[in-house]
Amino acid sequence: MNHCVVGLQWGDEGKGKIVDILAEQSDVVVRYSGGANAGHTVIIGDDRFALHLLPSGVLRPNVKCVITNAVALDPEVVTTEIQGLTARGFTLTERLFISENAHLVLDYHKTEDRLREESLGKNKIGTTIRGIGPCYADKVQRSYAIRMGDLRDLQKLRTKLHAVAEYKSKLFQVLYNAEAVDAEAVFEKCKSHAERLLPFATDTTEMLHKYIAEGKSILFEGAQGTLLDIDHGTFPFVTSSNSSALGMPAGSGVPAKLVDKFIGVVKAYSTRVGAGPFPTEQDNEIGRYIREKGNEYGTTTGRPRRCGWFDAVAVRYAAQIGAVDSIALMHLDTLAGLQELKICMEYQIGQEQAAFFPANLDKLSQVRCVYETMPGWDDDITGIDDFNDLPLKAQHFVCRVEEMTKKPVTIIGVGPRRSQTIFR
Ligand code: GDP
Ligand code: IMO
Ligand code: MG
Repeated sequence: MNHCVVGLQWGDEGKGKIVDILAEQSDVVVRYSGGANAGHTVIIGDDRFALHLLPSGVLRPNVKCVITNAVALDPEVVTTEIQGLTARGFTLTERLFISENAHLVLDYHKTEDRLREESLGKNKIGTTIRGIGPCYADKVQRSYAIRMGDLRDLQKLRTKLHAVAEYKSKLFQVLYNAEAVDAEAVFEKCKSHAERLLPFATDTTEMLHKYIAEGKSILFEGAQGTLLDIDHGTFPFVTSSNSSALGMPAGSGVPAKLVDKFIGVVKAYSTRVGAGPFPTEQDNEIGRYIREKGNEYGTTTGRPRRCGWFDAVAVRYAAQIGAVDSIALMHLDTLAGLQELKICMEYQIGQEQAAFFPANLDKLSQVRCVYETMPGWDDDITGIDDFNDLPLKAQHFVCRVEEMTKKPVTIIGVGPRRSQTIFR
């Protein structure tokens, strides 16, 4: 069986935890999009792992880990992660594979990301400054892109980096009055990336099709969330890749029809980091309660996450365009202690009901949320492992999520640990 795990909100839904759990039954785990803007947390016993590029299946010693063509690969971050896990007793040789077609995020991409965000002032996107947008822009523009496979011919790479540096330096100077890019400094770093990372480089598309032919069980791990998708999210406040389930085929070279089940991950509320529309946001006591109780601070940047009620209109849309088979509803425990809970069941624009999520800034800014209000519960549910043992009000909340999103909730998170998971 092949599965794909994808976020249905604005990221940080708890994909890392779900992938780690499902990886137990998988032979291969594949990261197919985004870059080190992602931060996927896995907690095992007293150990906490925050993974940015390595697939979250890496903590299962027998699982093979693949980073595909569409990942924006920061060689420094992946090296640090490999070294960190090796120091913690994990072996990665013979089980980590990185696409030779993955585009590299180099220092000048991070500089460009920062300079652009600074220059935008109050209009900034609120990116993670991990160089993601500039790296994908270079990919689409083609001429100045550097890929993993380019590390194989250092002489050619050096020449190319000089051309890139000349172009970027002009850009930085004219647009931002910033320092020039030092091609030789970038090249020196690339030499060490080549030495450390080339042993992992391969054609991952060929490899995945070989695994499929052998009947191996493959788990695809999405990054970010559907509402951050460059084409289907809340543009321009999105990331620069197809972070919905629709990005999986192009991102890996494996057609979606070879995946048996798509699992959408959501929180029992909504969060968002960075700028952009957020119809159910609670910039008040409720939002603060959720942030503190749910520890809603960015895994990658440490920024406080904006918090709000569960948005069934947005999740229904994300589940629909991802054709998800089921939903994993995380952080149900975080809602305990709130007197009243709300779910946004409908958007109104003027006098009209929006039938479909309007992934369009003008329309989204006019949206008025229509909520269903239900009573909350006080009981601590972090030790419960059977759905029927949950307080009836919690069971009711889960059932309403199912009805409003039109998808079954088959997994429920009641805490960050592997064991704090209810399967239905
Ligand atoms: P990802 O980017 O989708 O992998 O999610 P993150 O790791 O960025 O953020 C999710 C956070 O919630 C992490 O700190 C997880 O340890 C934590 N988490 C995951 N599931 C649950 C849950 O059901 N309850 C609680 N309280 N925490 C959870
Ligand atoms: P995971 O995989 C939450 C957000 C940023 C910003 C926007 C664009 O952990 O769920 P970028 O650096 O990608 O150009 O930033 O996207 N963003 C995320 N938010 N979780 C993520 O990843 C995110 N990756 C990017 O905060 O609003
Ligand atoms: Mg995250």
